[in-house]
Amino acid sequence: TNTKKTTDERLLAICKLLESSIDYYNWVGFYFRNGNKEELILGPYVGEPTDHTIIPFGKGICGQVAVSNENFVVPDVSAQDNYIACSITVKAEIVIPIFVNGKNIGQIDIDSNTPDPFSEKDVHFLEFVCNEVAKIL
Ligand code: SME
Repeated sequence: TNTKKTTDERLLAICKLLESSIDYYNWVGFYFRNGNKEELILGPYVGEPTDHTIIPFGKGICGQVAVSNENFVVPDVSAQDNYIACSITVKAEIVIPIFVNGKNIGQIDIDSNTPDPFSEKDVHFLEFVCNEVAKIL
């Protein structure tokens, strides 16, 4: 039997671990650049299914991170005008880019149903996760 895990299986396992370990991580997923197109495509995720499987660069929190190459911590999604709502229960969001050879190739996106839950600890932890993920892509 071939027990070797695919990259998507590994990414899904990371999503499951994060969502189940941290109570204010309620939707955890990866978006990746779709080839050379200026759009993101949804990868492995856990949480409510979303209609937003493709996000153009610049649109929403995720699309802005695709362009800025910067972390984006949103304590209150209702205060954002360039925001794509996936679920009305979501109060906050954090998006951390993933760099491979210095290129922003995707991101981890986490939604929270708790208002203003993310601290510098989440930022540093998720930067670490993204660095580890970059090694298996
Ligand atoms: N809220 C994101 C869209 C993705 S969903 O959170 C899964 C955004 O504004 O880009």
